[in-house]
Amino acid sequence: MPNSKIAGIGYYVPERVVSNDKLTEYMDTTDDWIKERTGIEERRYAVKHEETTSSMGAKAARIAIERAGISPEEVDFIIFATLSPDYYFPGCGVLLQRELGITKTEIGALDIRNQCSGFIYGLSIADQFIKSGMYKNILLVGAEMHSMGLDFSTRGRNVTVIFGDGAGAALIQASEAEGGLLTTKLHSDGTYAEKLSFMSPGAHGGFHHNKAGLDIDFGWPTKEEPGEIFVTQKMKDEGHLYPHMEGQFVFKLAVQKFPEVINEALTEVGLQASDLDMFIPHQANLRISQFVQKRMGLRDDQVWNNIQKYGNTTAASIPIAMAEAWEAGKIKEGDLVCLAAFGSGFTWGSALIRW
Ligand code: ACO
Repeated sequence: MPNSKIAGIGYYVPERVVSNDKLTEYMDTTDDWIKERTGIEERRYAVKHEETTSSMGAKAARIAIERAGISPEEVDFIIFATLSPDYYFPGCGVLLQRELGITKTEIGALDIRNQCSGFIYGLSIADQFIKSGMYKNILLVGAEMHSMGLDFSTRGRNVTVIFGDGAGAALIQASEAEGGLLTTKLHSDGTYAEKLSFMSPGAHGGFHHNKAGLDIDFGWPTKEEPGEIFVTQKMKDEGHLYPHMEGQFVFKLAVQKFPEVINEALTEVGLQASDLDMFIPHQANLRISQFVQKRMGLRDDQVWNNIQKYGNTTAASIPIAMAEAWEAGKIKEGDLVCLAAFGSGFTWGSALIRW
């Protein structure tokens, strides 16, 4: 049975830097509030009408493919994780394939909708496909263009200030060498699905949010007021076409689930937190990462954080951070690297890699 290793990684963030002060021009917030509660100092926004989630993903992918020393035509499967796809459908996987110019090989493309833990879910799928012998070179991309879908009024400030755009990619390859991906752990609990959600456009018809006990009336289409596909005028008027997050609720669960799922992976392979050379948490909030670091007893040099520069880039945050740490020489051959994420769903997971 082959092992799977990360043969190449890359990232791309848009050039446009958006400071906290810039956001104060649109909403009632302050640089101090954002820095104090989240650690974020600035984020990147893509150029509308020029860049998309899949075009950013392609930029990161080209770097990962080149670093793996293969040609794009040698990729034999694509996995794309995002919550901000170019289109409602089809997903970004096929758009990435087209952007990379590798449609002739007619390889499979899979889209993943696991938000913040999308990259870890993708990594786990890639690992299984490689260990089963089905594929040899899997391109995994996590990319987000959040700036297209945020509420820039004060109403949306709790969500809008934390998100940024960017993309990260990894080329996962079959290897006969020891190490590589040691284990992945995946979890979910749909009980609180709507606590961190982007419900519309959607075909819920008001059903699921009522089940969750949320007091939202979307004004579902009637014969008299048909509405557009999945979208009603009431949704537009009342700002339901934006992400919804109960921040403190998410925060409390995140700081509980991160250590749990990291320890689960470490226990399985008989290692401890002190063995880690690098821990790369999903960049949700610097306070969450610091809490987890403390709980796990990790030193500063064992943890990579870059949320200060990029905000929360959801599915892209782990591969961006991993690529950055690797470029900085902080991940070397033989190092034990741990990835972990928690987010909307709720879904969460971890991965252990012997580099
Ligand atoms: N600027 C100024 N004030 C604000 C802002 C803002 N940007 N946002 C909220 N506030 C105000 C609120 O209105 C509230 O005011 P009030 O007390 O007068 O009602 C007060 O600040 C506190 O609001 P909270 O939402 O309770 O603020 P909190 O300290 O919890 O910080 C935050 C919010 C940063 C979102 C935090 O809860 C958090 O990071 N949660 C976890 C997020 C997360 O991990 N998400 C998962 C990944 S994302 C994904 O999966 C898609």
